[in-house]
Amino acid sequence: MVRLSRVNPATPNASASVLAQLFEPIRDDLRAVEREFARHVQSQISVIPAIGNYVKDGGGKRIRPAVLLMAARMAGYTGERAVLYASVVEFIHSATLVHDDIIDEAELRRGRQAAHTRWGNHLTVLFGDFLYLKSMSLALTQDTLDVIRLLCDVTLRIVEGEIYQLTKQGAVDLSEEEHFEIVRRKTAYLFAGCARIGGMLGPTTREQQEALWEYGSNIGMAFQIVDDLLDFTGDEVALGKPVGGDLREGKLTLSVIHLLTQDDGRARALVGKIARDRAVDVDEWRQLRAMLAETRSIEYAQNTALSFVDRAKQALQAFPANDAREALLFLPDYVVSRDR
Ligand code: IPE
Ligand code: IPE
Ligand code: MG
Ligand code: MG
Repeated sequence: MVRLSRVNPATPNASASVLAQLFEPIRDDLRAVEREFARHVQSQISVIPAIGNYVKDGGGKRIRPAVLLMAARMAGYTGERAVLYASVVEFIHSATLVHDDIIDEAELRRGRQAAHTRWGNHLTVLFGDFLYLKSMSLALTQDTLDVIRLLCDVTLRIVEGEIYQLTKQGAVDLSEEEHFEIVRRKTAYLFAGCARIGGMLGPTTREQQEALWEYGSNIGMAFQIVDDLLDFTGDEVALGKPVGGDLREGKLTLSVIHLLTQDDGRARALVGKIARDRAVDVDEWRQLRAMLAETRSIEYAQNTALSFVDRAKQALQAFPANDAREALLFLPDYVVSRDR
């Protein structure tokens, strides 16, 4: 078994190799997910496989399918349905991203042009619809209504999260609770669904399935909080998307929400201006970073992510030790130390 605890994620490019080691037990299944993805974006309408393969080959981390596959493995499941559902969740995730980039007017994704930058909004909206429907038709090849119900439910939560977030765009009075509600819906539920579906495939008790939901939900919260932190602290090349994007998109994230609770008025004025103008210059960015440092707002968000990580790990106590559980226990640590 790979000794994951010896890996140091602080070395350059390490987070990609940490992930490769972590996913080693499910490497073949992840390859099968890639094949399924390519197979199911086939269509006589040639632009569909063109966009589909472009999205597939973009270098996504495949964390959601990996969580599902690992959870299935931890639950003792060895059949073929794990790969099928892992492909379904990657389809759902991909659909959310192509739509999200249109909504956020984000030109880059995974270090290159976002799908809509290349194919335009009209085709890309419809391609996202294709992926959503494809994910459900794929899931419907199995007679497992409980899984399909769960998939529909988490997908609806994502869409609600994106809609709710839009209604709060530019709102400098966004509370931490409102922010967590957005994050839970747009990101955490899908992670929760992935973990739970993996568990539902094996012989698991209801308590164990609920523990997996807890695990996924908490790792998902940490994942999005870290994604939002990387928007301030990250490296654009590693991330494959520009930093500073959230505020320019009018999105307040945890560290900024914390900053505003510590504020004497200056931060609110600055944040409000950036969100209104949808632009930030070098000097404003420097001021904002200084304020975040003074108020220890980055640490605040990091610590919050860590507390979600602890809760995620705690939930796995419902399972006996095996290699998949070890990987699932390490994944939250990767999530908070990742650079992309
Ligand atoms: C990006 O998710 C969207 C968020 C929830 C922050 P990922 O960072 O998992 O995206 P890829 O698939 O690896 O590119
Ligand atoms: C995550 O939100 C997108 C979804 C869960 C649909 P973000 O807008 O923060 O993700 P990035 O930063 O574009 O990857
Ligand atoms: Mg976005
Ligand atoms: Mg983001």
